[in-house]
Amino acid sequence: MNGSAFKCSSLSKKYSETEDSILVLDGISFEVAAGESVALTGSSGSGKSTLLNILAGIDEPSSGTVELKGRMINNLSDSQLAGLRNRELGFVYQFHHLLPEFTVLENVAMPLIIGGMRVGAAKRSASPLLEKVGLEHRYSHMPKELSGGERQRAAVARALVNKPSCVLADEPTGNLDARHAQVVIDLLVELCAENKTAIIVATHDTHVAKSMHRALVLRDGKLFSS
Ligand SMILES: Nc1ncnc2c1ncn2[C@@H]1O[C@H](COP(=O)(O)OP(=O)(O)OP(=O)(O)O)[C@@H](O)[C@H]1O
Ligand SMILES: [Mg+2]
Repeated sequence: MNGSAFKCSSLSKKYSETEDSILVLDGISFEVAAGESVALTGSSGSGKSTLLNILAGIDEPSSGTVELKGRMINNLSDSQLAGLRNRELGFVYQFHHLLPEFTVLENVAMPLIIGGMRVGAAKRSASPLLEKVGLEHRYSHMPKELSGGERQRAAVARALVNKPSCVLADEPTGNLDARHAQVVIDLLVELCAENKTAIIVATHDTHVAKSMHRALVLRDGKLFSS
């Protein structure tokens, strides 16, 4: 084990639309160490979401490989991939994606329940994390009853509840004001540091990028250090 959370080699992604094809990722290789935090920047349309989705196994590369904690994800079956993702990966979406028909506590506990834990035990495990993100008074509220920042904090708690080895976040502060954006990012950085979780955050926000150990920029399908 070399201690890397993510390693990808020669990743390319081409979208073919009739006769036009778009090469969004053009042979990208990089590695993120356990406990390292990385900002992924680049202009709109540069391929940030595409790259995160490939790293998460949500989308497939046209060529190249992705290793998560030393395991190649490309050749796994759907159920193997779902299991690996559930154990090793937390994903924070731009628009939180909380399930509207479940309470805040149930939402945060959901990855544990999906992983096979009983509902009561999952809720007991999830509640200290909700306290950490300052939502201890909101356990039984529905997502629609929370502010945007509170929902994002709940989404961060949900991404971390399984103590994943890596968190991927796609513009997690895109719809928050500067103060709440910083709260969400500080929280993510702090909680990840506690567990040596690697973080990759796609962001347009320079303050967010500066909160990470290093920043990478996507341009013309290539990845550069910034
Ligand atoms: N399913 C698809 N089919 C065809 N082209 C796609 C598809 N998904 C994304 N693209 C194209 O790939 C490029 C990269 O998109 P992507 O969403 O990864 O960019 P991004 O860097 O996340 O942008 P933003 O900052 O606006 O979120 C864009 O030009 C987009 O139009
Ligand atoms: Mg995007």
